[in-house]
Amino acid sequence: MKSVLNNRPALKEDIEKVAEVAGYLWQKGWAERNGGNITVNVTAWIDDELRAQSPISGPRAIGMTLPRLRDCWFFCKGTGRRMRDLARDPMAGGALIRITDDCAHYQIVADRLVTPTSELPSHLAVHDYLLAKGSPYRASLHTHPTELVALTHNKKWLEKDAATRMLWSMIPETKAFCPRGLGIVPYLLPSSLELAEATIRTLDQDYDVVMWEKHGVFAVDTDIVSAFDQVDVLNKAAQIYGAARNMGFEPDGMTDAQLRELSDAFDLPK
Ligand code: 13P
Ligand code: ZN
Repeated sequence: MKSVLNNRPALKEDIEKVAEVAGYLWQKGWAERNGGNITVNVTAWIDDELRAQSPISGPRAIGMTLPRLRDCWFFCKGTGRRMRDLARDPMAGGALIRITDDCAHYQIVADRLVTPTSELPSHLAVHDYLLAKGSPYRASLHTHPTELVALTHNKKWLEKDAATRMLWSMIPETKAFCPRGLGIVPYLLPSSLELAEATIRTLDQDYDVVMWEKHGVFAVDTDIVSAFDQVDVLNKAAQIYGAARNMGFEPDGMTDAQLRELSDAFDLPK
């Protein structure tokens, strides 16, 4: 089949990373049915020929106006599509979209008429925020990591940085590879504009990963593999916590002095 990925190696490489991560999400058990979504800002790989290609949908409203996204292009998982299917064929379960000049609509350009994820407002609002900040981050991931979601069912872990502190203290790699910790977004309706706004407000407290209470995580990074890695190390820490509890004890955790030593040694934010 004719695909926009043909003869566009940089774009193809970015989308192949999406397929790789979609496979991991399924293997991890974080992507039941259509659970989770991915978007990647691929504007850097869009050439004149692609720009001249007619969209295959009319303009559709985003629900918000996002001034930095004018003429930006995104790969988006399709709504209702399964990660396990995306792993095999990302262009069958996702679409390339362009944000229109009014910054309030998008059009589907290729390969197929796949409607983007229902969490598009959160993803696009976050991309707009990242560009406004001058961030190099281009990928965003929403997924349902079992142990991290389980934590949010106890108020204790919804206190600011309570979960971060516990997770960092389970195994040194957590702080080293998720040095900004885990922000908390109180429960809001999935796919709502309110959820999009709260996600940005929380990311802006200098987190790369935020928890949507009783739902899932939302993570950003330079590419989708790095966004996945941050969630993976956090969830590993949550699994260690759960394993210790299942063995019948509350884990001691690393001490404050050990965490400080780690920050000094790896030059991490305090
Ligand atoms: P979509 O299938 O619309 O991407 O929704 C999945 C999801 O996890 C919603 O929060
Ligand atoms: Zn979800």
